[in-house]
Amino acid sequence: MITLEGIFKTYRNGPLEVQALKPTYLTVEKGDYVAIIGPSGSGKSTLMNILGCLDIPSGGTYKLDDQEVQSLSEKELARVRNQKIGFVFQNFNLLARQSVIRNVELPMVYGGVAPSRRTEIAKSLLEKVGLGSRLNHKPNELSGGQKQRVAIARALTMNPSILLADEPTGNLDHKSSHEIMNLFTQLNNEGSTVIVITHEMDIAEHAKRILRFGDGEIVEDRRKESESA
Ligand SMILES: Nc1ncnc2c1ncn2[C@@H]1O[C@H](COP(=O)(O)OP(=O)(O)O)[C@@H](O)[C@H]1O
Ligand SMILES: [Mg+2]
Repeated sequence: MITLEGIFKTYRNGPLEVQALKPTYLTVEKGDYVAIIGPSGSGKSTLMNILGCLDIPSGGTYKLDDQEVQSLSEKELARVRNQKIGFVFQNFNLLARQSVIRNVELPMVYGGVAPSRRTEIAKSLLEKVGLGSRLNHKPNELSGGQKQRVAIARALTMNPSILLADEPTGNLDHKSSHEIMNLFTQLNNEGSTVIVITHEMDIAEHAKRILRFGDGEIVEDRRKESESA
């Protein structure tokens, strides 16, 4: 589903060059649940932004569902982001003035889904994440964990191939963090492919596979034996 061959990213700030991501080879199969861990500045978000087609690599080949991402136009990339990728961020990225249900409907507005169908899908996803009774609340009337559930419901609306989450528990307490990770486990059990960045090992342990980053490269790729049964 995801294949990276020699993907790298270099940032240039005047005379200074930062190799944020060294040439990286990685395959993620459909249905996997991957945690990416590593210290701050090790390249995790750089990789995530490339996987999510939010950023363009400096070189290498990225294939998503057998399509070479670098051959796509900006318009086609926007379509890939809308239809194939569900994003979840540390700071939730919800629209503060819009209701919970409206926030979840938004990707479907861009995706051209009919209004009545949008509402139907948004309601059912909000019920799935346990927020069926909060449809008309505003984000600031919710706890951090509930806001992240709204963001996850929103990420699922277009039925994406992959769910990408960058430090989704970074602003949550311990209990809510594990609840959110359990929700990802449930979604993964139902068939979603999930990639989660974290810098906390106990959070990463929820995943089936753990990629450890250090200094712009993958230094360990470990699959948890107990999960294979
Ligand atoms: N837009 C940018 N311009 C210049 N350097 C950047 C930019 N984004 C990230 N970097 C650098 O790339 C490296 C990796 O960053 P990042 O992928 O954000 O790490 P992580 O998510 O693991 O904390 C860091 O040294 C960071 O300072
Ligand atoms: Mg980061």
